[in-house]
Amino acid sequence: MEKILSFVESNKDRYLSELKDFLRIPSVSSQSDHNKDTRVCAEWVENQMRTIGMNNVQIFETPGHPVVYGDWLAAKGKPTVLFYGHYDVQPVDPVNLWTSPPFEATIRGENLYARGAADDKGQVYIHLKAIESYMKNAGSLPVNIKMIIEGEEEVGSANLDNFVKGHKDLLKADLVLISDSSMFARGVPSVCYGLRGLSYMEVELTGPKSDLHSGSFGGSVHNPIQALSEIIASLHDKNGRVTVKGFYNDVRSLTKAERSAFTKLPWNDKNYAKDLGVKQLYGEKGFTTLERLWARPTLECNGIWGGYTGEGAKTVLPSKAFAKISMRIVPDQTSEKIGRLFEQHVRRIAPKTVNVKVQFLHGGEPAITPIESPGVKAAATALQKGFGKKPLYQREGGSIPIVVQFKKILGLDTVLLGFGLPDENAHAPDEFINLDNFFGGIRTSVHFYNELPNYWK
Ligand code: BES
Ligand code: MN
Ligand code: MN
Repeated sequence: MEKILSFVESNKDRYLSELKDFLRIPSVSSQSDHNKDTRVCAEWVENQMRTIGMNNVQIFETPGHPVVYGDWLAAKGKPTVLFYGHYDVQPVDPVNLWTSPPFEATIRGENLYARGAADDKGQVYIHLKAIESYMKNAGSLPVNIKMIIEGEEEVGSANLDNFVKGHKDLLKADLVLISDSSMFARGVPSVCYGLRGLSYMEVELTGPKSDLHSGSFGGSVHNPIQALSEIIASLHDKNGRVTVKGFYNDVRSLTKAERSAFTKLPWNDKNYAKDLGVKQLYGEKGFTTLERLWARPTLECNGIWGGYTGEGAKTVLPSKAFAKISMRIVPDQTSEKIGRLFEQHVRRIAPKTVNVKVQFLHGGEPAITPIESPGVKAAATALQKGFGKKPLYQREGGSIPIVVQFKKILGLDTVLLGFGLPDENAHAPDEFINLDNFFGGIRTSVHFYNELPNYWK
């Protein structure tokens, strides 16, 4: 271990410069003009896997972006870890709000800034380097490892289910390991045991069959932007509760023990509001902020458009108005049912003046992972050794839908070992990874692989 950890210590500069290469590839999965880059990125990962000594490295084609696979299976009698991550990233717009170019990773202060720095390239890279340092210094790994790094996580992993279903033997393992979430706070390592799910909807309202002169026609027809705004405004009541009929029916209540555990976490609403730049927090009445973030379902309007939004003024009564609306869901809600309830509700409340189209774009299920599993115990020990601090247990508000699918299809529990930070600007301008977390992440991952067999009795 000494030798491996001092190797990590003395290779920090190389790690950073290689990570910058990884981050330079604009693998934006949602934008087809980046399809080539996304492919190049898959090949970069493939090449990395080969370089660090993984075997059977290959790119699996899917109808969308490819999956990169590699394994190392020579640890006889030891547990097999299935590591999952994603090499695709979110779009960078609005690009003018970035302090430095999103694909030119730049160190400022204690952070490395770039799209994908934390979500998820930086965290994938942590594991590639942990494995490399193990291989280089011990000549082998203490566990068996299979890695799948996909390229469609940020667009809903549409093809991953089929990939997993079609490669059950190849992916046979004892547990899943994912580093695609955050630590509780700076210097406060944590193990995550819960994620929310998601139902993502698009609403389209059509009023008149074409745009109209707002002077000649204003006063005679219901403006679809107005109708849409009225609908959206009615989706929450004055207590911040979602009004979609049946929305809360399947929500599993928090246990007393969990509520009390949440209150013991180092949290301060005032500081949180200040960090976010809001004058006051908002949310469902009767719940604390952490409860609302981690264990309560929510509804957000992600975008709304229609009519004229260009330069200057144009008097128009638009034909159409659109909104993208997503709902975060918790156990025991399902994305399909919540999507259906949403559609029914919107159809029911929509005024007769407009035509309504509701589309389900994609969904994913919420997950709770067992906190008493050997994998989580090994993770806790590894975090303690990697960061010199006992980790906390937390849930997260974000979603990694494949976690539930790994359980359903492969029967595997997942360990969520996150090295990001809650304020890392994921999906936003100036995304970063904290350098202490990056290097602490490599050390922790080395320890995790080393510790796991001890807990796997
Ligand atoms: N890494 C995130 C998931 C995440 C975010 C976990 C914050 C824990 C805390 C992942 O890349 C992501 O963005 N997921 C999407 C899922 C969606 C596209 C199905 C999300 O949560 O919006
Ligand atoms: Mn991610
Ligand atoms: Mn993401």
